[in-house]
Amino acid sequence: MALRIGEIAPDFKAESTQGIVSFHRYVQNHWAILFSHPSDFTPVCTSELGMVAKLQVEFEKRNTKVLGISAGTLESHKRWIVDIEETQETTVNFPVIADPHKKVIHLYDMIHPFFSHTETIRSVFIIGPDKKIKSILIYPANTGRNFHEILRMLDSLRLTSVYEVATPANWEYGQDCLVLSGVKDEELATTFPKGFKILKPYLRTTPQPN
Ligand code: BEZ
Repeated sequence: MALRIGEIAPDFKAESTQGIVSFHRYVQNHWAILFSHPSDFTPVCTSELGMVAKLQVEFEKRNTKVLGISAGTLESHKRWIVDIEETQETTVNFPVIADPHKKVIHLYDMIHPFFSHTETIRSVFIIGPDKKIKSILIYPANTGRNFHEILRMLDSLRLTSVYEVATPANWEYGQDCLVLSGVKDEELATTFPKGFKILKPYLRTTPQPN
């Protein structure tokens, strides 16, 4: 059964390039991103792990732990990381989970049999500090993920988990937000002290509230 937004991300214990990871304990009160790779020693995956390594400081600023996963063995991951660090000119300081028996991969429904019976698709699970799944993204093997978009989504998820706003199309951190329909017009001034605009009864904007 596929996982859905809002449910608790399944817990697991697995070997990784940074030691044994007990997932829920590892996440603690942080956000987390778990992203799968079809195979070790493949070009798109190599570029993706290099990009996440380069952006790790951005994930840390957002109180977020990143974890890669593929069906490779721990020994294979460790040899591959040497290549990633050499070719992508970075250091991989986050755990890459070794799941040769595909226990976690199946737990997270990362094998889509119409694509492949053996290799995972590229999935991304964004998980909140409450351990609930906040977002699921799925990409095919030949399309590398845009990790700037994943950071943008993380910014939106973190903001909208605290304030009564949503973020519009193509929103970037710092831009105006949309007021949730549950906020009454008479509550706008106190809820959004930075100001607000009423364009239509259902379309109200406010400067980013944080
Ligand atoms: C890649 O990372 O380049 C890749 C991996 C599996 C299938 C296709 C592409």
